[in-house]
Amino acid sequence: MMRKNLKGALRRGYDLLAGQGSAPWDLDNIGPENLMLGKAVPMKAAVAKCDLSCTPGYTRDDLAKVPEGSNMGLGCGNPVPVASLKAGEFVLDLGSGAGLDCFLAAEMVGPKGTVVGLDLSRGMASLARSLAVEGGYQNVTFCLGDIEALPFRDSSMEAVISNCAINLVPDKKKAFKEAFRVLKPGGRLSTCDIVLVGRLPKSVRNAIREGLGTLPSPESKEGYLGIMSSCGFAEVDIISESPFPAECMAEDISGRAIQGSSKITSEDLKEIGRTILSLGIRAVKSGSALNKR
Ligand SMILES: C[S@@+](CC[C@H](N)C(=O)[O-])C[C@H]1O[C@@H](n2cnc3c(N)ncnc32)[C@H](O)[C@@H]1O
Repeated sequence: MMRKNLKGALRRGYDLLAGQGSAPWDLDNIGPENLMLGKAVPMKAAVAKCDLSCTPGYTRDDLAKVPEGSNMGLGCGNPVPVASLKAGEFVLDLGSGAGLDCFLAAEMVGPKGTVVGLDLSRGMASLARSLAVEGGYQNVTFCLGDIEALPFRDSSMEAVISNCAINLVPDKKKAFKEAFRVLKPGGRLSTCDIVLVGRLPKSVRNAIREGLGTLPSPESKEGYLGIMSSCGFAEVDIISESPFPAECMAEDISGRAIQGSSKITSEDLKEIGRTILSLGIRAVKSGSALNKR
């Protein structure tokens, strides 16, 4: 699969999600009959019923204090508490979407700290930026960029966080090498992401491929952890691990593609929950790892 195709598809998909046009899988244009996937509850309805469980890792208080619209239900955990952020730190969020985690991190680093959210999608970056301006955030900024080629100097960040974005990057090794490069020695990486513990049903893969025009390829759990270690990260620890059911994908572009397909059965939807895991992982760039590079 061509990397350029994947990035182009993601850029278009997330631009549309951020409100830059109308998505071909826009739920408003699909009749209720198309939402009945076998006997399964339509995913949109399931999400409406489980707002907090589908934004795992956040407290009600977290979700109440961020700007309205920054929580688009696209994450698979909360990387902020695990990053142990301190006042004055410089933090980078990879694939920041509408900025949810950046706004939470901004409170932790305080007025002397800085949080930068980076995203491939112009729509997402500009949505996040406008929410920051409206909310009067002085210590958060958003930029357009690619996780595989970060526009930051070596050893410039105390912490890098990421939520459900690295799984979408074609070259995960490049992504982790870049995160390692921009971290200061002793800097922390906190990522929540999805990994596969099996193969997604063919109907699900086809629906995503048809909806996006391409298929992202998440790593296996062992593959993901192995890549982090091979890029120099030390103390790679799994902090949380849980199944990631289909309902939790409902707001994301892959989830919408699945919802738009009439070929997916309720059994396929159950299989998604058995195949996708959500991991919260913490790792450190130690001084010695830096010297080995
Ligand atoms: C599933 S969304 C998660 C958004 C956000 N982290 C959240 O939890 O709400 C993934 C985000 O990663 C961005 N993304 C995907 N590939 C990227 C890349 N190579 N570089 C930068 N951002 C990327 C997408 O544009 C999208 O905004």
